[in-house]
Amino acid sequence: MRERCVSTSVGERFVVRPDTDLRHSGADLDIMARLGVARIDTVRLDPDLGRGPTYREDSVDRTVPGRGGLPLAAILAALPRNVVIGLEVPMPSAGPPPCFEEEDVTTPFQDAYGPWAVIAGGSDGVGAAFAHKIASRGLNVVLVARRVPVLEESAAEIRDAYGVEVRTAALDLSAPDAVSALVKATSGIEVGLFVFNAGADDTSCAFLDKPVEAHGSLVQRNCTAVMEAAHRFGAPMTARGRGGMVLVTSGAAWAGGAALSVYGATKAFDLILAESLWAEWHEAGVHVLGLVLGRTDTPSLRRTMDVDGDMASGGLADPDDVAETALDHLADGPVWIHGSADPTGGSPLGSLRRRDAVLLMSRPRPVKTE
Ligand SMILES: NC(=O)c1ccc[n+]([C@@H]2O[C@H](COP(=O)([O-])OP(=O)(O)OC[C@H]3O[C@@H](n4cnc5c(N)ncnc54)[C@H](OP(=O)(O)O)[C@@H]3O)[C@@H](O)[C@H]2O)c1
Repeated sequence: MRERCVSTSVGERFVVRPDTDLRHSGADLDIMARLGVARIDTVRLDPDLGRGPTYREDSVDRTVPGRGGLPLAAILAALPRNVVIGLEVPMPSAGPPPCFEEEDVTTPFQDAYGPWAVIAGGSDGVGAAFAHKIASRGLNVVLVARRVPVLEESAAEIRDAYGVEVRTAALDLSAPDAVSALVKATSGIEVGLFVFNAGADDTSCAFLDKPVEAHGSLVQRNCTAVMEAAHRFGAPMTARGRGGMVLVTSGAAWAGGAALSVYGATKAFDLILAESLWAEWHEAGVHVLGLVLGRTDTPSLRRTMDVDGDMASGGLADPDDVAETALDHLADGPVWIHGSADPTGGSPLGSLRRRDAVLLMSRPRPVKTE
């Protein structure tokens, strides 16, 4: 279900989001049934009080900053994200039952990045978290991945949870024709947000211990496909003068290290590409973010590393937190270093000299042995 604005003949206006829960709000049961939603919170418009409208969040009454009588768009912009709202004016005690007229309303996020987002590598880990968070903000999503059962399960979860449209494209992003296939799969829809997430190296080892073909495949997925996707999907965004592109990279982009050689080099490529595209596109209204991650708790990391020790010490980032923060900061590029005290600047390795940084990156990591 899309976010909708519903007006009634007696003056109520409800903005209904897919995860609205009417049960806890005391909203009129008949209206709830007619809207066909299970949850709603209410915003009470009271222009005479000379204060902003109030709303309930987690059972606490809050007030939107400003004075009463704000236009709807201003109220929506002032409300915290994820607050599910309905606008309410007192119901008459008698008279005919309200009739409903519906119109679509869009949020600033949908206006900037909608109506469709593509998440390349969107079926688990950080990519799945992006897909959920983007869908919860009202965008339709296209999920790209190789394993069809995981992909379809993830797509079904998102459809059920947010009521947006979800498409899947089962393809291998390290195949030379992958981006052409993705362009074909998305023809006819307007893609306003592109997240290139797939990029982990699931067989981290010394440079010469891996066949050159495997290195080539990583370069194809992490560099060539990223460059091609940025070109093919970025061009329509710059023509429209709006949109967003997230290239997920890593602290490994900052310095070389043993067993990181080609992976780190591809991530440096992604970082520099993101920074350069930001420089070229930000004045055209397209937001590019090079999202720098440290170790994050994903199935991919768990497949390759023995993370139990890190889990106990709380050493891994949470994918939901990563995705939510990145989406909040899409317009704060060129770079967002997740978890850093200085996320838009600095270095994930602090002020270490380059040699010391390389030695630090080369420390043995807990690799899964069985
Ligand atoms: N996790 C970390 O600790 C960490 C640290 C620093 C940076 N990062 C960066 O964060 C991003 C996400 O990492 P992640 O740990 O979530 O694992 P990931 O393996 O990069 O991403 C997993 C998602 O990408 C898909 N995928 C992987 N390879 C693909 C391919 N060749 N073609 C199509 N889809 C593919 C997976 O589905 P299928 O397997 O079904 O294809 C899944 O949906 C990566 O860019 C990585 O470099 C991660």
